[in-house]
Amino acid sequence: MSLMKKHTHLERNSILMLVCIIVVVLIGGIVEIIPLFRMETVIEPVKGMRPYTPLELAGQNIFIREGCNVCHSQQIRPLRDEVVRYGHYSLAAESMYDHPFLWGSKRTGPDLARVGGRYSDEWHVAHLKNPRDVVPESIMPTYSMLAKRAVKLDDMPAHLKTLRIVGVPYTDDMVEEAYNDGMAQARADSPNIDGLKARYGDKVNARDFDGNPNLTSEMDALVAYLQVLGTMVDFSDYEPAAGAK
Ligand code: HEC
Repeated sequence: MSLMKKHTHLERNSILMLVCIIVVVLIGGIVEIIPLFRMETVIEPVKGMRPYTPLELAGQNIFIREGCNVCHSQQIRPLRDEVVRYGHYSLAAESMYDHPFLWGSKRTGPDLARVGGRYSDEWHVAHLKNPRDVVPESIMPTYSMLAKRAVKLDDMPAHLKTLRIVGVPYTDDMVEEAYNDGMAQARADSPNIDGLKARYGDKVNARDFDGNPNLTSEMDALVAYLQVLGTMVDFSDYEPAAGAK
């Protein structure tokens, strides 16, 4: 039987055809999907990436709770207009510790992937309390209550432990000190600041983000989170891997 004849046989037998299609599609699926289970083979490691500090993580949780990601994406695409407006396109490694990831699919407001360091803390606090005070035409809702609510940090050890299960490299020390590190980061004069920096690096922003020394508020946590977004990777010495340019 020639190959052509064999194929005729296959095309006339629908069950056999179906089985063969399934086998071929499965091979394609396996080749594409299996490597993705091993994150280190798909994400190019980049210098500077570290897990969020407990205060930043509390801020991310507030960001999710308040639905900020419904209006704001965190993903700069490699298109000229985006790069000119927002900065270097987002790298896969930059969201490797985000669970869930917050890339988003809608931009009612601007992308926030690199908003860290772009505005002062005072600007963020004023903007979150009432966006119209700083951007008169803004349609963003007000979040003034965040400044009045104490941020809940006593459950941060459990949060860190949970993230460790999905691969975020929090050490035992980080888990143990999570509450103290969270409290320390929101005030510039804390005795625990050295421990925080030893665990998360010298670049960590530690200060009274909301300008109110009497309360470690949800505003402190959210602003700490916004101020670190997109600032971990040092692009001055970043070289894309060969073939990625
Ligand atoms: C209903 C949609 C909407 C929601 C929800 C929303 N925003 Fe916005 N946001 C906007 C719009 C529109 C702008 C642009 C105008 C402005 O600056 O206020 C904006 C601007 C911003 C900016 C300034 C970005 C820049 O590059 O200028 C930040 C930071 C920000 N939002 C943070 C947040 C945070 C944090 C939350 C959740 C607590 C949030 N937003 C919720 C619509 C929204």
